[in-house]
Amino acid sequence: MQETPITPMLHKSVLVEEVLQYLDPRPGKVYLDVTFGSGGHTRAILEKEPECTVVALDWDKKSLDTYGLPLQEEFPARLRLVWGNFALLYKILKEQKITSVDGILADFGTSQMQIFERPGFSLYRDTELDMRMSPPHQKTTAADIVNNATQEELYEIFKEFGEERFAGRIARVIVEERTVKKIVTTKGLARLVERALPGGVKRGAIHPATRIFQALRIFVNKELANIEAFLPIAFKVLNPDGRLVCISFHSLEDRVVKQFFVQCKQEGRAEILTPRVVMAQEEETKTNPSARSARLRALRKLL
Ligand SMILES: C[S@@+](CC[C@H](N)C(=O)[O-])C[C@H]1O[C@@H](n2cnc3c(N)ncnc32)[C@H](O)[C@@H]1O
Repeated sequence: MQETPITPMLHKSVLVEEVLQYLDPRPGKVYLDVTFGSGGHTRAILEKEPECTVVALDWDKKSLDTYGLPLQEEFPARLRLVWGNFALLYKILKEQKITSVDGILADFGTSQMQIFERPGFSLYRDTELDMRMSPPHQKTTAADIVNNATQEELYEIFKEFGEERFAGRIARVIVEERTVKKIVTTKGLARLVERALPGGVKRGAIHPATRIFQALRIFVNKELANIEAFLPIAFKVLNPDGRLVCISFHSLEDRVVKQFFVQCKQEGRAEILTPRVVMAQEEETKTNPSARSARLRALRKLL
């Protein structure tokens, strides 16, 4: 299926000043940006501290090729690009012969580039229902799940990862529909969800399929499981006094980060630098609406 041609979109990084404040890059130190995206945060770190080094990781090869390679030409001695999943950080750092780092940034979720260019992420573009962030590493697409999971499994996915009130009704309609015709496109799924809900699409409200798309994306990419695997490894590879800065975009991610930080604090291993979650200032949300849901938390490793 042909994708609608669109203008390439550079991801607008969120909370850049706050990231620099909490990461506090210092000369001679090594920082790890595990979600490179379009490289806005990596660039900000490199520019803020001209004597630090950044190792930038992303699961999406296209992001690294499109935005990483030109940045590497600008900072050849100070930026290293690595393709991989942050859930496997320990193995990745071992391969890179890096034993520890002084600060880690994780800006979870999807980049605007993925939403606007890659198949399946946006319900406003008619594309294949794919949603994989790294197709070479992943087999199962959102279409595989929608067409093969049981009604009960779909219900669980929509309830748990989309916190969708009408999860049961939507799961039932999908299972009925797919016996007639497979659901293979974003618009096909979005229309089905509209049909399943009382009231259909209301003007000004979020599209009724938004939560279903979020749930499928989290499930396809194992987003919460990846964060759960990442956090203890990140903490382990941090040097004492090192900082871990995490930006989440929904409450499910933020809960995982918050619980991990509290546990580190209770064990006397970390100081929480953000007693209250940090949100974007109004000034930023005016120019970058996706900053509205960003939540930043930071900790400093004590031992
Ligand atoms: C919100 S964007 C990051 C934007 C970036 N901070 C910037 O300034 O442009 C999230 C990025 O994380 C990447 N990502 C998501 N899950 C990942 C994982 N498990 N391992 C590595 N990268 C991942 C996505 O491919 C995406 O590029």
